[in-house]
Amino acid sequence: MIQKQTISPSRGVKGDMTVPGDKSISHRSIMLGSLAEGVTEVHGFLHGEDNHATLGAFRAMGVLVDELPGGVLRIHGRGLHGLAEPGDVLDCGNSGTTIRLMTGLLSGQNFFSVLTGDRYLRKRPMKRVVGPLAAMGARIWGRGGGDLAPLAIQGGGLAPADYDSPIASAQVKSALLLAGLYAEGVTTVREPHLSRDHSERMLGYFGADVRPFPGGVSLVGHPRLTGREVHVPGDISSAAFFMVAALITPGSELLIRNVGVNPTRSGIIDILQEMGGSLQLLNERELSGEPVADILVKSSDLKGIEIGGSVVPRAIDEFPVVSVAAAFAEGTTIISDARELRVKETDRIAAMTSALGGLGARVEARDDGMVIHGGQALSGGTVSSRGDHRIAMSMAVAALRATGSVTIEDTGCTATSFPDFWELIERVGA
Ligand code: S3P
Repeated sequence: MIQKQTISPSRGVKGDMTVPGDKSISHRSIMLGSLAEGVTEVHGFLHGEDNHATLGAFRAMGVLVDELPGGVLRIHGRGLHGLAEPGDVLDCGNSGTTIRLMTGLLSGQNFFSVLTGDRYLRKRPMKRVVGPLAAMGARIWGRGGGDLAPLAIQGGGLAPADYDSPIASAQVKSALLLAGLYAEGVTTVREPHLSRDHSERMLGYFGADVRPFPGGVSLVGHPRLTGREVHVPGDISSAAFFMVAALITPGSELLIRNVGVNPTRSGIIDILQEMGGSLQLLNERELSGEPVADILVKSSDLKGIEIGGSVVPRAIDEFPVVSVAAAFAEGTTIISDARELRVKETDRIAAMTSALGGLGARVEARDDGMVIHGGQALSGGTVSSRGDHRIAMSMAVAALRATGSVTIEDTGCTATSFPDFWELIERVGA
């Protein structure tokens, strides 16, 4: 599924839209719904390939999930100890969240399982979860000395973790919390900066005893989880493409409704506002324990800024599109403390430096970030997504303000997180 898309310069991004459900929250709703007792109904679930990989894994472990009209999922929970040993390898596709969170959860099961993924996922580091899970007592094998999938897991017999993570990673934190469900006593994870806290919130929402504290979170093992109704907000990481599209395209005004604005995810709003972007949060409310708002965006003259520190994990998936905003801003933008971008779906520092550079932007890659000298006109041309959904969508946004048409190669990957991206961007003005 390679495909390509050609985008021409836009005369304005306008309208009133919603984006599909949050990918992180959708993954967690299947996991906790399956481990809960009783029925969980998930409204606004993201029907993308990544979340379907998680869904397939739980079905393979005996969980019954009905698909109701409107894309609603009804999960018949099997309780903390109700999963069955899968009869085959579990394929996580392109999804880092699936493989890392499942490695934690499967470490708690008294059975054998094997996790694998596509050629991109099989290159991504797993030691970050395998190491601390092994310290809890899990037996995990993988290529590269346990760092690379396929991973084979013999779970059971876990002791609680008390772990100081060297990186701010919600996938590491969540893997340990999910394993901690199966350990007697209190599991504690500390991190250098707060990463997204959807796991903590949803575990609490389902009835677990979760105690966030400055610098970390603790969880009491062996809780009783109860099925709940979950309303998944729109994914701020998907909305981000449209925010930047409206900001950089003159004559734009766009209302994006029902977007999750959890403070551990809303770094993109802070970054774009600091760059001078007009973004207004309206109708702020709460949905299933998660903050939500409508976001009104108007075209703005952006300026370069310095980005680093605690905002980085709060915007970790948005740096490809931040680099697009920076290319159209006046002055220089410096992104640092973002070395994690090197090990995402692809090396996003290398991918964006080459894609934006290929259209004439002045961009330098740094070990832990990028320097973008804005204000240079971008030409038309052909660029590659390198199989990474967020690179493909970011370059579609850049194309709206280029001086000629841009062809993006290898765009099938957008189905992982945003299957109807191309229709939506066309509808609002591409
Ligand atoms: C995610 C955590 C982040 C993020 C990813 C989704 C999650 O990864 O980049 O897209 O759902 O927990 P890291 O934990 O590696 O930072």
